[in-house]
Amino acid sequence: MKGKVALVTGASSGIGQAVAVALSKEGCKVVFTYNSNEKGAKETLEEIGKNGAMFKVDMHNETEIEKLFSFIKAKFRKLDVLVNNAGINRPRGLFETNDWKEIFQVDLFSVVFCTGKAVKLMEGVGKILNITSVYADGKVCYKGIAPYGAAKAALNHYTQTLAKNLAPKILVNAIAPGYVRTPLWGEKTEKEFEESGKEQLIERMIDPAEIAQMAVAVIKNDAMTGEIVFVDGGISLKTV
Ligand SMILES: NC(=O)c1ccc[n+]([C@@H]2O[C@H](COP(=O)([O-])OP(=O)(O)OC[C@H]3O[C@@H](n4cnc5c(N)ncnc54)[C@H](OP(=O)(O)O)[C@@H]3O)[C@@H](O)[C@H]2O)c1
Repeated sequence: MKGKVALVTGASSGIGQAVAVALSKEGCKVVFTYNSNEKGAKETLEEIGKNGAMFKVDMHNETEIEKLFSFIKAKFRKLDVLVNNAGINRPRGLFETNDWKEIFQVDLFSVVFCTGKAVKLMEGVGKILNITSVYADGKVCYKGIAPYGAAKAALNHYTQTLAKNLAPKILVNAIAPGYVRTPLWGEKTEKEFEESGKEQLIERMIDPAEIAQMAVAVIKNDAMTGEIVFVDGGISLKTV
């Protein structure tokens, strides 16, 4: 991984932050994005050190995304690894099309846009990792977050379709996390996290570093493509 150029979207907190730091420890130069949480992004940059670069991007704004890729092209001339991680899980409308549009823009359409730009910089060789969710499966998905589950289901499908189209040079996989303790959960008490963690077979919340560990393993592997790898504490095995 030494000297490889990686882009991690949404690395100002949670899973993206852990993945960005883990890739830098593997020797990658890591460009990462943030949107509203500049403080968190600076913390990520501090952990990565001189091999990191932070870039503000709102995934609603394609002009900003284009500027990100122009920056990568100017600074590194290429991209080896893309981690599509930025995501939201709100609001929760079953019928409100504006909720669906917002979730789909950040969790799916921006991924399509970033991936198109990234593939052009990959010089025909590269790795793409999408962060999806155990909730992509409608049988597991909590009933109050239909747009999120549907966007992640589409992302799983897109992962497999990309893998078919980009093989053998570009390998595309996804990780489907269960319940990971991150700011995505909003303001939760210790007790609430404990209760949510108990819903998983491992009886605790997953740590972002445990997702990052798998992300590094998947990115380093040259024999898998189109896989959805579950790191879900066993929650998808539980009857809901
Ligand atoms: N936590 C879980 O239990 C869990 C489970 C399954 C899947 N996931 C997935 O894991 C990924 C990371 O989530 P997380 O749990 O680590 O949450 P998080 O800590 O809230 O991180 C989300 C990241 O996405 C960025 N982001 C959000 N909206 C954005 C926008 N409009 N434009 C650009 N960036 C935006 C945030 O940037 P700013 O904060 O700087 O705005 C942040 O860096 C998501 O795709 C999520 O769906 C999480």
